Amino acid sequence: MKELIFATNNAHKLGEVQALLEGAFELKTLRECGITEDIPETAETLEGNALQKARYVYERTGADCFADDTGLEVDALGGAPGVRSARYAGDAHDFAANNALLLKNLEGEENRSAHFRTVIALILGGKEYLFEGKVEGSIIDHMSGTEGFGYDPMFVPEGDMRTFAEMSADEKNAISHRGRAVAKLVEFLQTENGKVKTEN
Ligand code: IMP
Repeated sequence: MKELIFATNNAHKLGEVQALLEGAFELKTLRECGITEDIPETAETLEGNALQKARYVYERTGADCFADDTGLEVDALGGAPGVRSARYAGDAHDFAANNALLLKNLEGEENRSAHFRTVIALILGGKEYLFEGKVEGSIIDHMSGTEGFGYDPMFVPEGDMRTFAEMSADEKNAISHRGRAVAKLVEFLQTENGKVKTEN
């Protein structure tokens, strides 16, 4: 089976994508290919960071690989926290502190619209491809729910009354930014894999 490196050490993310690939590719983590250091994410955009991570892996392994980057983009805050979502309240990557800061920065603000956006950068056969997944919604003025992670307790996706943190993982994945970006990646990979098979 063809191998593909997913530039993550997050077993949960890896399992989710592996299941969607239905055996067309075997995913490998960074650790499995000997990359144990933190990969720099210093770009100013989600696209830039995803490409930076994928290129880092490709330069060291020469293997097909992909990387993702996600941000919460809030309209009233000019797209913040965006590419800085993980470290909005500081470098500690503290979800509670990030949520508290977002609540404070939106105090009294009527426009609560926001979206999550995931960008996946794929390097396949030396060529680069980008895939985007987005979910529109709004930021409520308190936290609700215990599922998920990050900004989930404050984000209500369009078409629902519940926050992401009040949904099951399956319900969230079916409509989420990451779920949508991964679906595009998987569709592309399955088509490419089919092409390789028929060409041989
Ligand atoms: P990453 O690029 O997937 O590591 O995401 C960067 C940051 O965005 C995370 O540290 C979270 O703060 C936030 N984030 C990403 N995905 C989600 C999500 O599905 N729900 C809530 N917050 C998220």
